[in-house]
Amino acid sequence: MEVMPHHANTHRGPAVATRPASGLVPPSTWRDGLPVVRGLGFTLRELVAADAPTLMQHLTPAEVSRFISPPPASVTGFERFIVWAQRERAAGRYACFAVVPDGEQTAVGIFQVRRLEGREGVAEWGFILGAAYWGTGIFLAGAERVVDFAFTEMGLHRLEARASVANGRGNGALAKLGAVREAVLRRSFERHGAWHDQALWTLWRDDWRERLSAPAAAGTRVH
Ligand SMILES: CC(C)(COP(=O)(O)OP(=O)(O)OC[C@H]1O[C@@H](n2cnc3c(N)ncnc32)[C@H](O)[C@@H]1OP(=O)(O)O)[C@@H](O)C(=O)NCCC(=O)NCCS
Repeated sequence: MEVMPHHANTHRGPAVATRPASGLVPPSTWRDGLPVVRGLGFTLRELVAADAPTLMQHLTPAEVSRFISPPPASVTGFERFIVWAQRERAAGRYACFAVVPDGEQTAVGIFQVRRLEGREGVAEWGFILGAAYWGTGIFLAGAERVVDFAFTEMGLHRLEARASVANGRGNGALAKLGAVREAVLRRSFERHGAWHDQALWTLWRDDWRERLSAPAAAGTRVH
């Protein structure tokens, strides 16, 4: 699972570049601010500073974070992460959607997509939801919208996700979405002082679009 950088100088992209490596800027305004995307029972939107306390509450319990890179350990850490996320979005390198369930005002989870430096059109993505929202359908519906956004608005053609092989829900969620388990990256992830294998799950833009345009995807049955 993708990290959530939260130190002021944490930066995994080029030191000063503000454009993708190729200089190509997708024909989209997402760099100026993420769109608000509504789903059944939830909204996806840009992260804002007010999300920090609920992100802290929902993403830091051990059952949520045990298989992922450690999230920030304080509200201040989440505030720094949100500032970083907005800066990276403006630079066209990263998009992080807050997940806000109906009836709530602030985020209980995130979907993040980060372009991989030096690999045009390829990004790593990841997702975390507070445990109270597991099994509610928010993951699948939100993921479909974020994947559409990544392929359409961000101009990507390949999305990679890494999940610890022991992460039943993470791997189950990716399989359900239709991602392909391409490989196992042996001892590739350090957590709690031990090295873990990760599954590499990928989605391809063309496969994704083909699936969406298939009759079954539209709920149409052909007899
Ligand atoms: C990953 C996450 C966002 C998925 O959301 P979710 O609401 O739990 O996902 P869903 O319930 O829709 O889907 C998970 C699937 O895995 C299945 N699953 C659960 N435990 C499993 C296990 N041990 N082995 C295999 N599959 C399992 C579930 O049955 C479900 O499939 P189903 O709906 O067909 O029954 C959420 O679990 C989470 O935030 N986890 C903590 C952070 C994390 O691990 N992020 C992913 C890093 S790759």
